[in-house]
Amino acid sequence: MVNVGDGAWDVRWKIIRLDEVDSTNEYARRIAPDSPEGTVVVARRQTAGRGRKGRRWASPEGGLWVSVILKPPKVDPRLVFVGALATVDTLADFGIASGIKWPNDVWVNGKKIAGVLTEGKAGEYAVLGIGLNVNNPVPEELRDSAVSMIQLTGSELPLEKVLERLLFRLGGWYRVFLARPDLLMAKVRERTFILGMVVKVTEDSATVTGRALDILDDGSLLLDVDGHLKRVMYGDVSLRFV
Ligand code: ATP
Ligand code: BTN
Repeated sequence: MVNVGDGAWDVRWKIIRLDEVDSTNEYARRIAPDSPEGTVVVARRQTAGRGRKGRRWASPEGGLWVSVILKPPKVDPRLVFVGALATVDTLADFGIASGIKWPNDVWVNGKKIAGVLTEGKAGEYAVLGIGLNVNNPVPEELRDSAVSMIQLTGSELPLEKVLERLLFRLGGWYRVFLARPDLLMAKVRERTFILGMVVKVTEDSATVTGRALDILDDGSLLLDVDGHLKRVMYGDVSLRFV
């Protein structure tokens, strides 16, 4: 990382390109202790791509499967929003309007186009993994719930350019995260589409249903549950629409 004149931080990306890997997040975690901040792992295919809670992430050729190693002063769960905002902006750069489904998905017209998976070791490193469906087909069983950029644009996109934009956007939002996390969260509130909707949030076996009122500066979701305010911290929570 270099310190730019005005005191803002800028990330220098160093890209490791792989044909095939189990998971770019796994790979990044393996090398993170000995790699500088800004190391990027990108693979054409993942054989064991995963989402949260070890769920399978379909990663055939044509998609963007990427993980970046960051070394913020403090590993903060709000890093997930750096990935989500960067993805929303990148999609906009290619003419696609999308929104954040708190806490870690990006959706277009009711379907998931990207997911963000953050992992890390406190005090050492964070790995920010992003899976974005670009030119890849979505698996048959996900046809109703997932979508690719190519389905929306009607023509193949230059994967390299998508990566370039994504890294540019990631650098920008990472800077905001470091300097003004409150501004990052203000943008998340603007870019999410869940506020005002009735949602069911499940964490472990506990489920709560309420109207999504706000996303607070610490990243948690504020719900109105039968007239009572309830704050849901994110972590491995699932959110469904009711
Ligand atoms: P929630 O985040 O509310 O728990 P989720 O279904 O999005 O719901 P995640 O763990 O965030 O759960 O994401 C993993 C899920 O994403 C998988 O279980 C699968 O349904 C879906 N999925 C897997 N591969 C893809 C893909 N390439 N594109 C879109 N969705 C996918
Ligand atoms: C989710 O929606 O649960 C998150 C999906 C994250 C998928 C990306 S693809 C690149 C990186 N490597 C992985 O194995 N997962 C993330």
